[in-house]
Amino acid sequence: MSDIQPGFKNRPLVCVQGLGFVGLAMATVIANACDRQGVPLYQVVGVDLPNNRERFELINQGILPFKSEDLSFEPKLKQAVLINKNLRATCDEAVYEQAQVVVVDIPLDIEKLSPVDYSHYALNAAGFKSAMRTLGQKISCDCLVIIETTVPPGFCSKVVKPILEQEFKARQIASCPQIAHSYERVMPGRDYLKSISNYFRTFAGNDAVSAKKAREFLSSIIKVEEFPLREETGTEASELAKILENSYRAVNIALIYEWTLLAEKMGINLFSVIEGIKVRSTHNNIMKPGFGVGGYCLTKDSLLALWSADNFYASAYGLPFSKQALEINDKMPLHALDLIAEATSLDNKKLAILGISYREDVGDTRFSPAEIFYREAEKRGAKCFVNDPYLDNWKEVPEAQFIAFDEGLSQMDILVFATRHNLYLEAGKEYLVQISKSQAFLVDTFDILDDDKIKFLLAHDREVIGVGKGHIKKLRQELNCPEF
Ligand SMILES: NC(=O)c1ccc[n+]([C@@H]2O[C@H](COP(=O)([O-])OP(=O)(O)OC[C@H]3O[C@@H](n4cnc5c(N)ncnc54)[C@H](O)[C@@H]3O)[C@@H](O)[C@H]2O)c1
Repeated sequence: MSDIQPGFKNRPLVCVQGLGFVGLAMATVIANACDRQGVPLYQVVGVDLPNNRERFELINQGILPFKSEDLSFEPKLKQAVLINKNLRATCDEAVYEQAQVVVVDIPLDIEKLSPVDYSHYALNAAGFKSAMRTLGQKISCDCLVIIETTVPPGFCSKVVKPILEQEFKARQIASCPQIAHSYERVMPGRDYLKSISNYFRTFAGNDAVSAKKAREFLSSIIKVEEFPLREETGTEASELAKILENSYRAVNIALIYEWTLLAEKMGINLFSVIEGIKVRSTHNNIMKPGFGVGGYCLTKDSLLALWSADNFYASAYGLPFSKQALEINDKMPLHALDLIAEATSLDNKKLAILGISYREDVGDTRFSPAEIFYREAEKRGAKCFVNDPYLDNWKEVPEAQFIAFDEGLSQMDILVFATRHNLYLEAGKEYLVQISKSQAFLVDTFDILDDDKIKFLLAHDREVIGVGKGHIKKLRQELNCPEF
């Protein structure tokens, strides 16, 4: 087997199924796990689909196939691939035959079928089920399958286990498949890998043997002395925990939306008010106003639980509150657009979206609120341009024209700060005046411009609008700026 390096044949083989944002990070962390003598514990093979050949080639040269703010990511990948030689990428599924552990990091998508009412959705589980079937056809009877993919609660016991059992039966394997669920809390940003190895983990096994094996494996890659593992009573509880965590966050963000609208009408700076509330230890994770919610998890995870409530557990109540939070969060970027439209016409205006990734200081545009904003702004007559220090193309909006964050922006009528990238936070007030044209609108959707900058911009013939910043009206009055 060419994917297994000869020097590592005596080490347990761990396969990671799916080499995306999560899987490649996980594979890198596992390959860098060492014993007390500094010797790598595992041989790791990442498996992805054959159409990702370009990705394998990069990974097998120790090159990250996507940008990451974590400066340790590529060196650690290089260490594993080129120096330790215990990490390879492949599309050859035969490698699963020799695995002691398979970590599953592939997608399981749920599609919103209506843009306003998320009661209509479709679970696209075919790819995930087919991947489980492949594992059932290949793995040995004592291989542990750890599901890290976010799945509808109940999926491991009601879907994954029956598929593996069916395939085992066809191979005349009598033993029960060993399955565990353990979800990632990986956080894009500067500490991407550490958010796997140096962070708390929840897990559960489908039986005592699987739970014990999962504990041993996770303990070997995570600093459990500092971040003890939490074992749930069953895979259902671990699956539910993942989605409840994300729904909790999504609901808190949605709550602030309506207070943002009210504060703007009242002429209040909601960011400042929230700082005051955060002093209470019970309230220190209150969310702030913003441009919207994006990314692969917060925008959809509640729907996975809703699917389970409907399809597995016949829950008559469902999850109306969590569902509404998703609907509200998707509306947020349109609020920024409405604020602009209240102040100026969008028709034929050149509008620059500054920051298209869904999160600060990362280059991930999946389900970015900027896409909702871009499409609606164009529909309302604006000509949109985009800038993002972490991206030079926009996969979801390939027609988008990129511009630099410099004097080129002086052609723009409207500059929308849509992501809290450092580049924008660090831009000084003089620089902002230098790069923008007279009477341009600068739109702050994420508290990027403090009051000192706002006053300076207003005093230099720029207009400023801010989400959650009703007090700008008062600043305008102080400076005798005319009303919009
Ligand atoms: N991105 C995050 O921050 C994050 C955080 C926590 C959990 N998750 C969850 O982790 C899972 C993976 O997320 P991601 O961001 O890495 O997705 P991704 O789309 O970046 O990567 C998934 C990879 O799986 C591959 N794949 C699909 N089917 C496969 C198969 N049958 N065999 C091998 N490879 C296959 C795809 O080609 C792709 O490269 C999702 O369930 C997601 O909800 C993501």
